[in-house]
Amino acid sequence: MARRFKGVRAAEADRKHSEGVEMSEASLEASSVDTSRARYTTVAIVLHWAIAAAIAFQMWSGMTAEGSSAYAQIQLHKAVGVTILLLTVIRLAWRLAHPAPTLPSEMPGWQKLASHASHWLFYAALIAIPVSGWVMVSANPDFSMIPTMWFKLFTIPHLPFFDAMDVASRKNVTGLAHEAHELMSNGMLALLALHVGAALKHHFVDRDATLARMTPGVKPRMGALGLPIRRVISIGRRIASLGLWLIAVIAIVAAGYAIYRAKAIRGDKGVTEATVGLIAPTSSEPAAPAAPAEAEKPATRELPDASDAAKAGAPIWTPLYDQSAVVVKTSVSGAPVEITLSWKATIAFDPDNLAISKVDVIFDMAKAKVSDPQLQSGMSDTQWLDVASHPTATFHGRSFEKLADGSYSVYGGLTLKGEEKPFGFSFRLKIDGDRAEMVGEATVMRIDFGVGEGQTSAMHPPLEAKVDIKLVAERKK
Ligand code: HEM
Ligand code: HEM
Repeated sequence: MARRFKGVRAAEADRKHSEGVEMSEASLEASSVDTSRARYTTVAIVLHWAIAAAIAFQMWSGMTAEGSSAYAQIQLHKAVGVTILLLTVIRLAWRLAHPAPTLPSEMPGWQKLASHASHWLFYAALIAIPVSGWVMVSANPDFSMIPTMWFKLFTIPHLPFFDAMDVASRKNVTGLAHEAHELMSNGMLALLALHVGAALKHHFVDRDATLARMTPGVKPRMGALGLPIRRVISIGRRIASLGLWLIAVIAIVAAGYAIYRAKAIRGDKGVTEATVGLIAPTSSEPAAPAAPAEAEKPATRELPDASDAAKAGAPIWTPLYDQSAVVVKTSVSGAPVEITLSWKATIAFDPDNLAISKVDVIFDMAKAKVSDPQLQSGMSDTQWLDVASHPTATFHGRSFEKLADGSYSVYGGLTLKGEEKPFGFSFRLKIDGDRAEMVGEATVMRIDFGVGEGQTSAMHPPLEAKVDIKLVAERKK
C-alpha cells in the first residue's frame, strides 16, 4: 500500500499496523510514495540550520552591542550578516530548483497558506534585514571610515549609491535603514515564535513528520504507543539525537567564535607589542616607527639641520630610531586603538643652556600604522587625517624649561592636517654620558586640528588623544 507518513491519518494507520514498532528512516522512505519529496534535501536542511544558528547569533550580537566590546561585536555582526545574505541567495536558488516536500493533504487550507506565507516572509526578511544593515553602514556619513570586513580577511565595500548624496540625506537614509533593520528583526522574531510553535505542535501534538523532514535524527512520533520501556527508550533516543544536533550547532558557532577571538587576540598582541615597543622596542617589528632610511626623504626635504643651534654651541643628538617610538593612544567605541607614528627628528639640546636648545620633528603620516588594520582607512579619510592632502605633520620645539621636579617642558608649534597650533608637553630626561633617554606624554585635542570634526558621539575617538613619546638619542661627536 502506498503510504504517506506525514499526515495524522497516516500516523493513525501506522499505529494500528505496527504498534510499538519504531520505524527506521530507511523503512519510512522505502514506504513513501515519492521519497524525493518526503523530506527536504540535505542542502536545504544544512542551510536551514546554519542560517537559523547565525540568526540567533545576529539577534544576540545586534541587541547586546554596548561598551568597549561593541565595536568588535558589530564588526563580527556585519560579517555574519553578509554571510547570511549570501547563503540565503544560494538557498533561494536551491529552493527554486528543488521544491519543498508537499504538505499533508489532510492539512487545512488555512494552515497550508500560513505555512507558505511564513516561509516566504522568512526568505524576504533574510534578504531585507542584511541589506538594510548594509545600507545603514554605507550611508552613515559619520562612520564611513569604518569598513565592513569579512572576518578580518577582506573588505566588503560600502554600497556605492550614497557617495553622491549630501550629508543630511545620508543621515536620513542611515536613520531609516536603522529603524527598518530593527523593526524587521523584531518582526522576524515574532515570525520565529510562530514557526517554532507550529513545528513543535506538528511534532508533539499532530505527531506527523513535519519536524523530522527538516531535522535529521528526529523521527516522527508515530508508533509511540508501544510498551512503556520501548517508549522510554525511544523518547531517550530522540532527546539524545536532538541534544546532539543542538551540541553540533553550538559547537559550530563556538568554533567560529573561537577562531575569531584567536585572530582578535593575535591582533591585540600586535597592539601590546607596539606598546611594549615603546619601552623596549624590537627591530623585528616591521611596523616599528621610522627606520631612519624610511623617514629619510621627508626629513631631508623639510627639516632644518640644526646647524644654527650647533653653531651656538648646543650638542646635536641623533635619535636611535629602533629604540624610540611615538605612539598616539585613542579608542573607538571604548576599545583601545594605537597609531604608531613614523618620524624623524633633529635635536640640538643642552640641559645647561636651554635657551639655545631646539627640536624639529617631522611625521610621515602616510606611514603611520593603526593597531587595528580595519581602522587604517581613518588615516586617509578626509574627515579624519586626510594623509593624501596632508602627508606630513611637524613639531617645532623652541622653548624649553626645567621644572621643579627635575623634568622638562617644551613649547612650540604643532602642525597637523595643515593647521598650526601652539603645543607643548613635559618629559623626563636621563643623560648618561653620550646617551640620552627621554620619556614624555603629550595630549592632542583633535578638534583643534579639524580631525573628525563633528564626530563626537561616544563611539568616536575621544576629543583628547594621548601621545606616548620615548626617545633614545646619542650625542654627535
Ligand atoms: C540577517 C541578518 C541580520 C540580523 C538578524 C540583524 C539584526 C540586528 C539587530 C536585532 C540589531 C539591533 C538593533 C538595535 O537595537 O538597534 C542590529 C544592529 C546592527 N546591525 Fe544588524 N542584523 C543583520 C545583518 C546586518 C548586516 C549585514 C549589517 C551590516 C553590513 C548589520 C549592521 C548592523 C549595525 C551597524 C547595527 C548597530 C546599529 C546601532 O545600534 O547603531 N546587520 N542588527
Ligand atoms: C531564525 C531561524 C529560522 C529561520 C529563518 C527559518 C526559516 C525557515 C524557512 C524559510 C523554511 C521553509 C523552507 C522551504 O520550504 O524552503 C523553514 C522550514 C522549517 N523550519 Fe525553520 N527557520 C528557523 C528556525 C527553525 C527552528 C528553531 C525550528 C524548529 C523548532 C524550525 C523548524 C522548521 C521546520 C520543521 C521546517 C519545515 C516545515 C515544512 O516541512 O513545511 N525552524 N524554516
